[in-house]
Amino acid sequence: MKVGVLTGGGDCPGLNAVIRAVARRSFTRGHEVVGVREGWRGLVEGRLELLGNREINGLLPRGGTIIGTSRTNPYKVDGGVEAVLETFSRQGLDALVAIGGEDTLGVATRLHAEHGFPVVGVPKTIDNDLSATDYTFGFDTAVFICTEAIDRLHTTAESHNRVMVVEVMGRHTGWIAVMSGIAGGADMILIPEQPVSVDDACKEIQRRHARGKDFSIVVVSEGYELDGGDDEQPAEVDEFGHVRLSERGVGARLAQEIEQRTGFETRVTVLGHVQRGGSPTPRDRVLATRYGLKAADLVHESRFGRMAALHGDAIVDVALAEATTELKTVPDDWFEVARAFFG
Ligand code: F6P
Repeated sequence: MKVGVLTGGGDCPGLNAVIRAVARRSFTRGHEVVGVREGWRGLVEGRLELLGNREINGLLPRGGTIIGTSRTNPYKVDGGVEAVLETFSRQGLDALVAIGGEDTLGVATRLHAEHGFPVVGVPKTIDNDLSATDYTFGFDTAVFICTEAIDRLHTTAESHNRVMVVEVMGRHTGWIAVMSGIAGGADMILIPEQPVSVDDACKEIQRRHARGKDFSIVVVSEGYELDGGDDEQPAEVDEFGHVRLSERGVGARLAQEIEQRTGFETRVTVLGHVQRGGSPTPRDRVLATRYGLKAADLVHESRFGRMAALHGDAIVDVALAEATTELKTVPDDWFEVARAFFG
């Protein structure tokens, strides 16, 4: 078989570990592996490269993706879908492993449903917002990085008697904020799924300070809407049509509000893309490796339209469509764990 592999959407730690696992298992079966450059754009433009043992050497700990990524959506490019199908057949490909989040896998789902496209999926995203899998790879690394930052902010917050606002990624879900907030001992966590208002947050901080604590750590998810969404700022959209949430500056505006309403000196740290960069944690390396092996197995068995997924501790496969129909938001019971330590 000739197996294509592509990485789409925002990069995340562990992409290279998946590519390595797909390639290693495919090589043992005598298959060829071809890297598609920069996500779906590579199939639209016919940019592919053969991956051999040399190319996959040393990939396990390496961040980013050696084959590049993009947010190109062939359904939004004139003649894009036809170009994808044409490249695929001209290059003699038999299968594609699409490693991506909601958008990249959404395209895979549609191509499979509408054209019988032989594709299998691997769930990637630091946001952990894909349904049908307990965890996506990349998430653990992002949480680790945010937790480390919160730990560091604690010592400086304490020294200066300040409120520290930490803005983290996560798009429209608060997974990164909740997990790193719990791990880092945040005094307040604000996420899109929970209607904790700025007013409530300020009151909680004031109560905490009245009890003798001179500093507070507030973690806010980039998708949190200050005061119910009346604050919506104009922002650019990416190629998949998503608003660039980082440009709304939620962290900075929240810090300003807290300082004005409480009188406590407040600073903001926006963690941004460091959450996605660098080497994956051991947990992400292992998860990415297991996903890659599963994807290679699905390809070998011609079980297309499926996605590797984690259920409990087991790697299983689910329908691609299941993963992309709805966002996996943070359930109330997870938020309750965090809330127990507010104030
Ligand atoms: O989906 C991953 C993610 O890092 C989100 O958390 C964030 O909103 C977005 O991508 C940022 O996208 P970009 O890299 O285009 O700025």
